[in-house]
Amino acid sequence: MESSAAVITAKPVSQTGSYDQPVVHEDKAARFWLFMSIAFLCIGVVLGLITAIKFVLPEFLGKVAWLSLGRIRPTHNNLVVTGWLVSANVAAFLFITPRLCKTKLYSEKLALWAGYIWLVANILALFSVPLGYTQGKEWADWPWWVDLLIVVSWVLVSYVLFQTIANRRVKQMYTSLWYMMGTLIWTAAVYIIGNWPAGYTGVNDANINWFYGHMVVGLIATPAGLALAYYFIPKASRSPLWSHTLSMIGFWSIAFIYAWNGAHHLTYGPIPTWLTTVAAVFSVLLLIPVFTAVTNFYLTPIDLAKQIRTNPIVNLFIWGTTFYLATCIQGPAQALRSVSQYVHFTDWVVGHAHMALFGAFTAFAIGAAYYMLPIMYKRPIYSRGLQWVQIHLMIWGFVIFALDMWVGGFYQGWLWKHTSLSFIETVVAMQPFYWIRIIGGSMMVLSMFVFAYNAVMTALMAEPRKVALTEREAEALATGGGSVAEV
Ligand code: HEM
Repeated sequence: MESSAAVITAKPVSQTGSYDQPVVHEDKAARFWLFMSIAFLCIGVVLGLITAIKFVLPEFLGKVAWLSLGRIRPTHNNLVVTGWLVSANVAAFLFITPRLCKTKLYSEKLALWAGYIWLVANILALFSVPLGYTQGKEWADWPWWVDLLIVVSWVLVSYVLFQTIANRRVKQMYTSLWYMMGTLIWTAAVYIIGNWPAGYTGVNDANINWFYGHMVVGLIATPAGLALAYYFIPKASRSPLWSHTLSMIGFWSIAFIYAWNGAHHLTYGPIPTWLTTVAAVFSVLLLIPVFTAVTNFYLTPIDLAKQIRTNPIVNLFIWGTTFYLATCIQGPAQALRSVSQYVHFTDWVVGHAHMALFGAFTAFAIGAAYYMLPIMYKRPIYSRGLQWVQIHLMIWGFVIFALDMWVGGFYQGWLWKHTSLSFIETVVAMQPFYWIRIIGGSMMVLSMFVFAYNAVMTALMAEPRKVALTEREAEALATGGGSVAEV
């Protein structure tokens, strides 16, 4: 087992004054980004449920154009990723970075401004696609004026985080900072390439579009999610990271392998066969970073079995890790032509996409929020009971959703390949699966609202206790469940 302890240098930092003084973290920007993300989560999952209902009741909510499936679906898709996941990850970055660097955040003000711009961009985005303003490309739906705001905000918040790292008072950079810096750089590159308003046509356009589609998961959501897991799993379980070396192998293998994967979305499509073969080979190689992360996450918590039962944060991260493993075994398998011929374009892929972005990375982001909230507000979480209710609704709702999409998706692929049914007849045959998805999806939506309620109540709770908790006490309450007296 390797120690992840950081080495402290004697370099004083201007903003924090003397090197020996403890740093007081304001967390103003982190709080703003966190609650913004929670608001978009609630809107985003309701849009997901509306989309799911429209698969069985196409005229649900009437025949209004801006509420049609073709407009609500991409709005759900983009909002849960950019409005919820990315914002929640930024909130965690703003919380983690100053603590790992043992210094203050470089500028709370600038990070707040980045948040305001992000908020405006996502509100505009929420209305742009339903009102018909779209670039018409999957994942890159938003018009250029939304993209511009997103890029400005990202540059601002990246500047704040990089400056904080430059001002750090510890020499070694802990794993999470590597993954976070990767996320900051790759997000900028991937977003600009994927949303460039002009330039590509035909097959090249399709290739770039799926480079972007896959990299939103591979080079944005994945390194960000892993940055969170590498910080919060050791912290929440009060255990040292199992292997720092393994985490670095994971980081560099993500950096070199992921970018080649996008073309597996175009298997049997109108692009050169060699390109999809290269994508399939690199998809299988992805098992390297996956196993480094999963091994580290399972082996880090001391007394894992007990922690899963008693510690909601560890519970969420370990469930998330399990879903991460499952989605990353599916992914390379789907990239093979023999498997792809059955599942391509079916609902299997929808189950796979949610497995990564909901099952794994949303679980990580909520786990992180449960850790951060008591520390940010120096008070215990509003309701420990609701935390467990939320986790069970989320996990079991999602298990229903995912199993339904996998079985249904495979059946759908089989119908297309082995029967003479017309396409619309196969849509009708899928109706029972779409109803079951609504049941699982409703549990997921309810769970997100329970989480939002608990988070808001934690922040608003009037007069939590006469003396606010110290950061250490709040941390102990967030993770161990004990009373302050035990800390
Ligand atoms: C944070 C939570 C969620 C995330 C990150 C998420 C993410 C996504 C993504 C990435 C897609 C595109 C999938 C693809 O093209 O293969 C999608 C589509 C979809 N999502 Fe979600 N989702 C979330 C919650 C939900 C919930 C709660 C429901 C409720 C049933 C839902 C229902 C749907 C539906 C019906 C589609 C369209 C599938 C299709 O086009 O066939 N999602 N979502």
